[in-house]
Amino acid sequence: MATGHTVFRIALAIHRLGTDVEKKGKFVKSIWTGFAVIALAAGVASFGFSSVSAEDAKQSGPYVDAEGYRMAGEGATFEGGKWMLPSGAPTYRIDKDGKMDFLTYRGFQRYHSECHVCHGPEGVGSTYAPALMDSLKTMDYFDFLGVVASGRTVHTPGGGESVMPALGDNKNVMCYIDGIYTYLKGRADGVIPRGRPAGKEDKPQELGDAENACLAG
Ligand code: HEC
Repeated sequence: MATGHTVFRIALAIHRLGTDVEKKGKFVKSIWTGFAVIALAAGVASFGFSSVSAEDAKQSGPYVDAEGYRMAGEGATFEGGKWMLPSGAPTYRIDKDGKMDFLTYRGFQRYHSECHVCHGPEGVGSTYAPALMDSLKTMDYFDFLGVVASGRTVHTPGGGESVMPALGDNKNVMCYIDGIYTYLKGRADGVIPRGRPAGKEDKPQELGDAENACLAG
């Protein structure tokens, strides 16, 4: 979470600046006005950028097929009861009414039994752990698997620790990890709203068999 630390440091620096400035009484107003101008300029600059990144996002963001199904990318095929992308990552497949593939529905259920205590409901984050709906805007499937399986400990400023437990031996997590991923990816892509899913496809036989084999293995 190097970025998190940087943001934290910047926030701290701004906070300190604010405190110094307050002591100097009358200058407060003009300095903060200057700040607002800088912030505005930065805002305008990032506004200019956002149209560029919206173009880029089309390449990896939600893809809509001819029947109106939304997926995390193009070229998905149905294998073993899951929609799989050419990259080897699974994807959600959601129709225009919000009805989801069974794998993603399963992920919605399992996320809320295994992850939400720390990461907050629907991937929105908590004071304790990051918002996974934001993490998955940039983190790919393979990195996601790595962190969930192996965990991660980060030393926070002030001597604390931020610990993501290693869940690689937990079948209640790992037997459903693809669905947890596609659910969170759908949240990250803005395809899955908060709340209960509008509907789900029937459970594919092969997916049920794979789940049972995984839990028994
Ligand atoms: C006991 C609390 C806890 C549980 C349960 C937990 N996590 Fe975490 N997780 C954390 C913390 C804390 C972090 C932040 C670690 C750090 O500072 O890098 C984290 C980080 C992550 C990250 C990296 C996010 C990023 O932006 O880099 C992923 C991915 C993740 N968790 C997935 C999961 C999933 C999926 C589950 C459920 C199967 C889960 N976690 C369950 C506490 C938890």
